Amino acid sequence: MVTASAPGKVYLFGEHAVVYGEPAVPCAIDRRARVTVEEREDDHLRVHAEDLSLDGFTVEYGGSTDTDPDVNVSQSLVEAATGYVDAAVEQAREAADAPQAGFDITIESEIPLGAGLGSSAAVTAAGILAATRELGADLSAAEVADRAYRAELAVQEGNASRADTFCSATGGAVRVEGDDCRSLDAPELPFVVGFDGGAGDTGALVGGVRELKDQYDFAADTVAAIGDLVRAGEEALTAGDLDELGELMDFNHGLLSALGVSSRSLDSMVWAARDAGALGAKLTGAGGGGCVVALDDSEETETALRYLPGCEETFRAELDTEGVRVE
Ligand code: PMV
Repeated sequence: MVTASAPGKVYLFGEHAVVYGEPAVPCAIDRRARVTVEEREDDHLRVHAEDLSLDGFTVEYGGSTDTDPDVNVSQSLVEAATGYVDAAVEQAREAADAPQAGFDITIESEIPLGAGLGSSAAVTAAGILAATRELGADLSAAEVADRAYRAELAVQEGNASRADTFCSATGGAVRVEGDDCRSLDAPELPFVVGFDGGAGDTGALVGGVRELKDQYDFAADTVAAIGDLVRAGEEALTAGDLDELGELMDFNHGLLSALGVSSRSLDSMVWAARDAGALGAKLTGAGGGGCVVALDDSEETETALRYLPGCEETFRAELDTEGVRVE
């Protein structure tokens, strides 16, 4: 039996634009998904999942007795969770040259599902490392990152960048531009996260931006403007200039809003953070609902979000410099 964990992440800058080759800077945070894997005698998968935003469920499937899982949570949620697990197992089977391997898998996540904090990348990266290790093979963080990307690409039907999976596999602040992925030096970043209790549909949101960009030059210009902003943001990060970082986060939120991926609850959390004196605030991830990230080393933003109707949970997060690891 092997347990591996991997961190979630916030986007300091660049989500959506990264899908079209612009750079992005995600940062791993100290909230993890843990995946425990035990090899079975047969080729089935049995998945038990628990996280912040859903009641635990267990499904067993695969092999010659493949039937629809019989569970009492929504089919789409089960499909979302098992889709990433299946793709991770497929990568592990291939890496360990064990195409028939079956597993009992338990997922425990501190990262809300589909909320812009990279839960799927964390589960995928931790699942790949745990399952390959259980089969006696070993992968470096870079190999896990690459296989986790391929798994996400398969599940998201080609709509995925390397940003989430590379960040989760290597930890810390990273810069991703196309296939070029690297780690960045970063100062301490006083993140505050606000969560509206909802989730966005990443595939649909990415598809919406793609359509807008194809239809209107202004949308293509907005994507390019996000790229310019990220390049300025990288310099501010390297210089440790938190004031400028905050200001650029505010601009980034405005540009994401122009692309139609914000929501009333995300906007109101962003404004509550700014009114409380945060250096900057923006949505993180695909948008549509889910989380915002603010920079504030005082307690004001956390307090303001805690009392904001529509913000279901708020917490402080720190940059996690450790990526995927065996526990
Ligand atoms: O919401 P998340 O954590 O799945 O992040 C999606 C980020 C996008 O840039 C919108 C898509 C991607 O794969 O980079």
